[in-house]
Amino acid sequence: MTTATARAHPNIALVKYWGKRDEELMLPAAGSLSLTLDAYATTTTVSLEPSAAGDRFALNGAEADAGQAERVTRFLDLVRSRAGSTARAVVRSHNEAPTGAGLASSASGFAALAVASAAAYDLDLDREELSRLARRGSGSATRSLVDGLAIWHAGDDDASSFAEPLEGPAMSMIIVTVDPGQKKISSREAMRRTARTSPYYTAWVDSTARSLEEMAAACRAGDFTRVGEITESNALRMHAAIQASDPPIRYLRSASLAVFDAVEQLRADGVEAYATADAGPNVVVISRPEDARAVSRHLAGHGEISIVGAGPGAQLITEEDCA
Ligand code: DP6
Repeated sequence: MTTATARAHPNIALVKYWGKRDEELMLPAAGSLSLTLDAYATTTTVSLEPSAAGDRFALNGAEADAGQAERVTRFLDLVRSRAGSTARAVVRSHNEAPTGAGLASSASGFAALAVASAAAYDLDLDREELSRLARRGSGSATRSLVDGLAIWHAGDDDASSFAEPLEGPAMSMIIVTVDPGQKKISSREAMRRTARTSPYYTAWVDSTARSLEEMAAACRAGDFTRVGEITESNALRMHAAIQASDPPIRYLRSASLAVFDAVEQLRADGVEAYATADAGPNVVVISRPEDARAVSRHLAGHGEISIVGAGPGAQLITEEDCA
């Protein structure tokens, strides 16, 4: 019987992943690029229980709901089939992110689960293989295996769809929590609806593939300005595509748009900052590290603020062999 514990951090995409071309293999419609954070870690322990009838999943000390538990079991089934094992597992996961801040993410969750379960079931996987495995749990988790800036190559099959590190300019992220409530429509569901019904979906996918190339070049050149410009335009394009769904989905609230306005004002005042937002109302602002305090002071009235930077990819922290 083996127990393994892993720790992973969420990531925030600068070029977003929104849409799948293969739901089973979790292949994205386009590649994406993100920064793995140095805060809000998820720590997950997987303990094999060969005599148990089913898996058990506890999140922040409480038994997870049926939907979450089923997602974990489906993921463990993949790991078991590769390991040639039928042993069930107890999974205990703890999120440091405040619930509802939009950061208690499936990215850190499945990245930590991939690393811990691979170790518990004795699979010897390298970082690229772990990134591919994490992808099967949640697309954005693919990138949380990587330190700092990560590019997720869309790929065209299981083997070619993984994330790897990329050099880029130093940056800070200022997270503005304008609304701590839980989002009403999950990314997974909203992505499906966008792909099925938004007349802008194809344009979104095409433009994202181009933005990713441009973003990768801007990162390699250390061009913070271009990185920021592409980040903000890519986020607004994603929200445009989402909002055009039928029935419509609108994640950005007036409080979110007020942050985009304030960021525009900062730029007019000579401080370079750029805004992005995921599938929720909260806004993440990027700046050069030396400007982060000034940016956070300027945004103070808009919500709870935290400043974060680049953090490490998912890591195994303990492994205990009790065989
Ligand atoms: C807006 O990775 O949560 O944060 O693959 O269905 O689990 P699934 O979706 P998920 O979607 C993330 C969407 C996003 C953009 C991004 O992180 O790139």
